[in-house]
Amino acid sequence: MPPIISVENLSKKYILRHQKQERYTTLRDVLANGAKRFTNRLIHPFAALENDSTHEEFWALKDVSFDIQQGDRVGVIGRNGAGKSTLLKILSRITEPTSGRASIKGRVASLLEVGTGFHPELTGRENIYLNGAILGMSKAEIKSKFDEIVAFADVEKFLDTPVKRYSSGMYVRLAFSVAAHLEPDILIVDEVLAVGDAQFQKKCLGKMEEVGNDGRTVLFVSHNMASIQKLCGNGILLRDGGLSDVGAIEKVIELYLSDSSLIGKESIGDMPRARHDYGLVAKFTNVSPVNGNGKKVVSFKSGEDIAFDLEIKAFEKVDGLSIVFGLDTYMDYRITTVLSEEAGSLFSADKDSLISINLKLPNLHLKPGVYSVTLGIRRNKLALDHVVRVISFEVNEISTNNKDHDSAKYGDLLTESLWRLL
Ligand SMILES: Nc1ncnc2c1ncn2[C@@H]1O[C@H](COP(=O)(O)OP(=O)(O)OP(=O)(O)O)[C@@H](O)[C@H]1O
Ligand SMILES: [Mg+2]
Repeated sequence: MPPIISVENLSKKYILRHQKQERYTTLRDVLANGAKRFTNRLIHPFAALENDSTHEEFWALKDVSFDIQQGDRVGVIGRNGAGKSTLLKILSRITEPTSGRASIKGRVASLLEVGTGFHPELTGRENIYLNGAILGMSKAEIKSKFDEIVAFADVEKFLDTPVKRYSSGMYVRLAFSVAAHLEPDILIVDEVLAVGDAQFQKKCLGKMEEVGNDGRTVLFVSHNMASIQKLCGNGILLRDGGLSDVGAIEKVIELYLSDSSLIGKESIGDMPRARHDYGLVAKFTNVSPVNGNGKKVVSFKSGEDIAFDLEIKAFEKVDGLSIVFGLDTYMDYRITTVLSEEAGSLFSADKDSLISINLKLPNLHLKPGVYSVTLGIRRNKLALDHVVRVISFEVNEISTNNKDHDSAKYGDLLTESLWRLL
């Protein structure tokens, strides 16, 4: 059978603006800031482009080719910025490729980071009909799906409320429900589901599985390898905009997890900063994962000491520096945040000096998977530096007694336990 999606030498070039380092708007931003700013952006899409002087070309996708067969459930994976959302946007016809082509047979419904197809001023009910119409369904067809959509999204009470008043969870629930129930031939879902709660995520995975069993084609982006593995039979691995691998999902996930560029990106001086409250005082320049003996490593065993060497450059003489270390799962779920200040450690440095600090988290019982680190430097509660997801590392094997621990059944924390009869 000819493929339902055929992608040939697909490339997408963006022009990067240098002065204002404003990021493009994602659904996450919309959810965080309310729909209004997003609407403004839609009305004045080029407002932010005015007065810029330096432009640089950037290939978000480069020469990507693959085929997808009807009924395949395909996981699209890759690091942040690998080009996953760009690929999905092209397949959903939300953005045009710069060169190459994507031929698609059938109706596509998508739930992406940008442009859910919802109109903020319209009510939930109106948006359901609008989306159905966009997908080419008749009023009667939409009507027959209406109750199911509303029940799945659990928004009965808010059907006649404009969606701009919806909470982020409600918005995503309705957007997913609409996309999944309007019987598209191809369902495309970016990782926005991470916004919903765990129970809803599970429900969505179940629904996508159902859609796939119906002979429809599903493309799903997620950083959660467990979900991808459960849902998808095939995978596409993107790396720096290029196609790194395509094929059976187990093989693709394995390659992704073993990809050394995923782990231990050390030099972080030039990475974009999330925040600093006043000028350049001190910033992180290097971070490397090390084992309990101070030796550089790329992965840890669950239950081992997890440690990091952090290098900080001071641009002036400073003291009273508190270091913040946050640990997230690959789904962006915060596991823990530790502050050096709370552990009684404040640091100081001379002007134009480098200091190195070792942070150790003893006996960390993380379940196997990929984790990422976010770092901050604070002084008097003000942020001097804040870098999000500076490195990722892998926890790959359990070194405690509960080797056959099944996290799906027993939970995410693999703690040791001591028992005694009193
Ligand atoms: N509209 C845009 N203008 C400029 N650059 C863009 C635009 N959209 C995406 N990019 C850049 O293209 C690259 C690929 O972005 P994309 O959103 O496809 O990555 P991704 O794999 O979805 O990442 P993530 O896992 O963080 O969602 C990134 O470097 C991103 O900054
Ligand atoms: Mg993305």
